[in-house]
Amino acid sequence: MNVMDLFSLKGKTAVLTGGAGLYGRQITEALCEAGADVWIASRNLEALKKVAEPLGAHAFELDLASEESINRLIDTVAEKSGRIDVLVNNAVTRCACARWDQSMDIFDESLRINVSSLFHITRRAVEWMKKNSSGSVINIGSYMGLVGGNPTNYEGTEGMGTPSPIYFFEKGGMANFTRWAASELGPFNIRVNCVHPGGLANNQPEAFVRNYCKNTPLGRLAGRNDLKGVIVFLASEASSYITGANIPVDGGYTAR
Ligand SMILES: NC(=O)c1ccc[n+]([C@@H]2O[C@H](COP(=O)([O-])OP(=O)(O)OC[C@H]3O[C@@H](n4cnc5c(N)ncnc54)[C@H](O)[C@@H]3O)[C@@H](O)[C@H]2O)c1
Repeated sequence: MNVMDLFSLKGKTAVLTGGAGLYGRQITEALCEAGADVWIASRNLEALKKVAEPLGAHAFELDLASEESINRLIDTVAEKSGRIDVLVNNAVTRCACARWDQSMDIFDESLRINVSSLFHITRRAVEWMKKNSSGSVINIGSYMGLVGGNPTNYEGTEGMGTPSPIYFFEKGGMANFTRWAASELGPFNIRVNCVHPGGLANNQPEAFVRNYCKNTPLGRLAGRNDLKGVIVFLASEASSYITGANIPVDGGYTAR
């Protein structure tokens, strides 16, 4: 097969959570541009429609805190498209991220949306992948799942602190969940990989940008196309022998 054909997602159905978010928008674009039938889902249907409609994607309301809501999404995609080939677990709540002197209830809320839902949506999507003996699950982790916090990034910024340890815990857990799921699902030809992005440029304070860039070998924050290639690679047959991988896409931040 021609190598460029290996990257095509034509005929594949993809489900992406948080598809209208900062990174979500470029992941939606990437999946659509590679030819997939794409369903993006999160709580704000209006925001989803604005991203989905120009690209010919579907928008669907989803609350990851609710098992019923996850079931509704998966059942609807399966009914309308007849298949699920790709799942991108991208949505995130940062409800407990600001500090770590929070009540246990806030940590529980964060764990429900960022961890428990990951298990449920993955097992529900995988039921459909098993029917075709093929599938790709892509988890969106973070450089903060691979290393500890670096306080020098926040020097000179007013009130901007390293996120709560819950985020490091959740993204670190995602890295090893990826390995576990790859091991479990490999026999069904379902691949599970995790991409760990670096910080995305988003009007952060000047001091943060300066510090972060100094700590990053490529010397910049991520931009609006930086995840597109790796997403299409992992979703497509171009990566057919790759599973259980944790791939930093962070300008080298975690290499230091
Ligand atoms: N932005 C960054 O600099 C950065 C860096 C590293 C990793 N990441 C990771 O990239 C992914 C996307 O991050 P982002 O910055 O684009 O996020 P974002 O905040 O822009 O978007 C998050 C999305 O998740 C959705 N969401 C939140 N709670 C939900 C719930 N209960 N049910 C359904 N959807 C819900 C939101 O509606 C939103 O669409 C996340 O997994 C994040 O951890 C982001």
